[in-house]
Amino acid sequence: MFSKTLPNQRPEDLPDYLTIGDVDVEGLNVLVRSDLNVPLSDGVVVDDFRIRAALPTLVDLVRKGAVVSVCSHLGRPKGRDLTLSLEPVATHMSALTEFEVGFEQGGQITVLENTRFLAGETTNDPETAQWLAEGVDIFVQDAFGSVHRAHASTVGVAERVESIAGLLLDAELKALGRFVDDPDRPYTVVLGGAKVSDKLAVIENLLPKVDRMLIGGAMCFTFLVARGLEVGESLVQDNMVDAVRGLLKGPHGRKLILPVDIATGSRFSEDAERRVVAASDIPEGSVGLDIGPETSAGFWGLINSSASVFWNGPMGVFEWENFRNGTEQVARALAACDGFTAVGGGDSAAALRLLDLDGSVSHLSTGGGAGLLLLAGQVLPGVAVLERWVQ
Ligand code: 3PG
Repeated sequence: MFSKTLPNQRPEDLPDYLTIGDVDVEGLNVLVRSDLNVPLSDGVVVDDFRIRAALPTLVDLVRKGAVVSVCSHLGRPKGRDLTLSLEPVATHMSALTEFEVGFEQGGQITVLENTRFLAGETTNDPETAQWLAEGVDIFVQDAFGSVHRAHASTVGVAERVESIAGLLLDAELKALGRFVDDPDRPYTVVLGGAKVSDKLAVIENLLPKVDRMLIGGAMCFTFLVARGLEVGESLVQDNMVDAVRGLLKGPHGRKLILPVDIATGSRFSEDAERRVVAASDIPEGSVGLDIGPETSAGFWGLINSSASVFWNGPMGVFEWENFRNGTEQVARALAACDGFTAVGGGDSAAALRLLDLDGSVSHLSTGGGAGLLLLAGQVLPGVAVLERWVQ
């Protein structure tokens, strides 16, 4: 986590909770729920941002004399799929800290196996939650990226054992809370990524709260179709077009800012020839792979003149150099903006790191969906459950 503007207030609209400073953990068995859901390649961690972000809480607890175990999900396994074991995460964590890290047993920090290997995890089965809570004196909720899930390891265990917030969760809630309680205006949200369906409910709830919402990424093509344009072979979610049309025509539709030009390729391929066309003139057979330069310049101006900006989702296929420009311009605009800027979602964070700009935004969040839902005003079950332990 990086912070150039230190958030210092818990947002008023969010539930109350205790933090590590409020309890004495010495000699106690503490179970921490972190979000260690990180990308692996051939059993090796390829992006350790979430592991690094989880460590301060674990280390603080060890230093305070607690016996620390940490649990997390990894991926979406169907049953016990050892390609999604937490063991490589434990190995990686061990290289990042002077403290001893064990997998399943031993160590000053014990990393437990993937909670989603447990049949009752995602259904928040009472027996699974009870099993996780067994022998635990204090539960520390620190998995900001997962608090929108009402699972056994995020909610069930916290219903059974005295529970508090970890350092990461507290910092995330305070930072992103600035968008919830009376954000500085103009307040701009930039959304990208592939699918409208993943974000439709969030867009609906967020739109009345923001001053403008900039839409890029593959999901912009569903918006362009809803406006009556042809988009060639670009990705469109046909079953979302009516809902999107409703948003565009609704009372806040004018806040939705769509691309005016598109960088297209002759096919979906890294070496496809790049051609910039007007959004109203995408040729048949071509596929939109990035927002165009005129759109990027417009987005830049809107971001730069904002007092609060939240960005989630790349503007195009930024992994391919030819189609990186839109994402790069948005990243640079956030970095140059004097307002409070936050970025959420693994892809946007990866794009910032690729451009070496990850230290240039006010807050780099470990949450994807959780952050968007928080901004949209939704109750996060993994946070709400902590309130019952406040005297
Ligand atoms: C995430 O990566 O957004 C979180 O770890 C949640 O993962 P999930 O969508 O599989 O619950």
